[in-house]
Amino acid sequence: MSVHHQEVPSLLERIATTMSVAIGRVREDLAGADPVVRRSERADFQCNAPLALAKRVGVKPVELARQVVAGLDLGADAVIASVEPSGPGFLNVTVTDTAVWEQVAARLEDPRLGVGTPELGRRVVVDYSAPNIAKEMHVGHLRTTIIGDSLARVEGFLGADVLRQNHLGDFGTQFGMLIQYLDEHPDAAWHQDELGEGTSAVSALDGLYRSARAKFDADPDFADRSRARVVALQAGDPDTVAVWQDIVAESERSFSAIYDRLNVLLTPEDSVGESFYNPMLGDTVDELVDAGLAVESDGALVFYSQEVTGPEGRPVTLMVRKSDGGYGYDTTDLATIRYRLRDLKATRLVYVTDSRQSLHFQLVFEAARRAGWLTDGIAAEHAAYGTILGPDGTPFKTRSGGTVRLMDLLDAAVSRARAVVAENRDLDPAELDRIAESAGIAAVKYADLSTSRVKDYSFDVDRMVSFTGNTGVYLQYAHARISSILRKAGDPDAAVDRTVTPHPAERALGLALDAYGAVVTEVAATLEPHRLCGYLYDLARAFTTFYEACPVLKADEPVRGNRLALCRLTARTLGHGLDLLGIAAPERM
Ligand code: ARG
Repeated sequence: MSVHHQEVPSLLERIATTMSVAIGRVREDLAGADPVVRRSERADFQCNAPLALAKRVGVKPVELARQVVAGLDLGADAVIASVEPSGPGFLNVTVTDTAVWEQVAARLEDPRLGVGTPELGRRVVVDYSAPNIAKEMHVGHLRTTIIGDSLARVEGFLGADVLRQNHLGDFGTQFGMLIQYLDEHPDAAWHQDELGEGTSAVSALDGLYRSARAKFDADPDFADRSRARVVALQAGDPDTVAVWQDIVAESERSFSAIYDRLNVLLTPEDSVGESFYNPMLGDTVDELVDAGLAVESDGALVFYSQEVTGPEGRPVTLMVRKSDGGYGYDTTDLATIRYRLRDLKATRLVYVTDSRQSLHFQLVFEAARRAGWLTDGIAAEHAAYGTILGPDGTPFKTRSGGTVRLMDLLDAAVSRARAVVAENRDLDPAELDRIAESAGIAAVKYADLSTSRVKDYSFDVDRMVSFTGNTGVYLQYAHARISSILRKAGDPDAAVDRTVTPHPAERALGLALDAYGAVVTEVAATLEPHRLCGYLYDLARAFTTFYEACPVLKADEPVRGNRLALCRLTARTLGHGLDLLGIAAPERM
């Protein structure tokens, strides 16, 4: 990525500048005000400034609209064709045909497709996925993994220095039990290379942990030996630590298999599990005590919120140190946020977990602020998401009521996608497998990302893998179809002729393509990937409308060249947008 990227402003930005200049010219008291320019259904763009700003200067919106029009200088750059006052104080803005073609040509030259680098110089921590060691990843890890990964990609593309942090659950008393059990059952197979294809180390460890748990409950001597193991682990006993490290490494290998399949960027280098913060817990607690933020309560140390109150006005707290002297999830997150702000020097913290943890993070952020770790200008945000529901509208479970393993869920989607692709296309089995895998994963990821983050959604495989509607498969297919047109065209490098009068569908597509940069920036600002999904879906539909109205390959030059340019730019924008969502965009399907 070049830092010296020459940005070509979007049409929207250029219109906003022109309007802003006009407003400043006619009303000094409004200099620098946001001209509120948006895409519009009625014209190409709409400027809502007169309506938004009239009150501030005590004139009627209609009057302000008239004044702004009088102050316009459209000669300078030939972007705006006309500005018409409309309604109670809008201005309808139409752009020139040349400007539309110029913009298409400029975008085609631009490797960044008009997306700027507003996040340069920022360091963004994205905390996501965070499965638990020695446990299988399940449906509960799907959203955090997919949403977090897309946000990391978007921030990175906008120029941020992104630190992906996989806050693995790699610590706790349960490991004492498991390690002790493994020690007493040396024949138990749980390393991946001892296991067959169809099973994973975490699956074996999960089973062994259950046996350990049962033995712990039934056998007091084993329970004592397990407790001694916890002490040994915490004291750094080399043999115990070695087994624990082995368990962590094997678990991470199982997670990597899922991450690879999901095309998620996380690698073992991004793993900074809970145990990493153990050596910092003591200092963190001391600091909170010294600041008067952690106070005694029934032998424990707690943090009392000043911002949130619970039912019946009861105080809401974080557990800083339990009465038995132990530390838990809360303390670890306090040490974590301190480390990320102080040592990693993050300027933005994003935590991607389900919305049930909202209160937890609200309190962690409050504590960090009051402790002076989280200062003005630094953002700490909880990107909370809703629950995945089953067909009956309750949280998604297996038929027998168990937790749905992530691998099983992906297998189900891929096998459903296989059936749908086989219905639509005539392919040899190897090709069918490849496409089904790509389509099935795309279906799952897109269904998740395209739902507004905070909402629950139901896991409906049939809808997800559909070739029509707002699905990942539809977008992949749109991309492949345009790629095929380009292949047939042979020479995809014809120049754009700016003098051609565009068909309305060509104009609409050109304007849709121009909006890409704004959408990507908006995703980073709001932490809402569904905005990008909605954009890509609208873009694919604008392409379909265009393609139905405007023959490409059979058209004569220079129309053909311009249409091919639209095809090329649409394919690139779709492919790029899907990539920011972490979804593959195959050229053939
Ligand atoms: N492992 C945790 C869970 O399963 C999620 C960790 C999220 N990150 C954090 N810093 N607390 O709920």
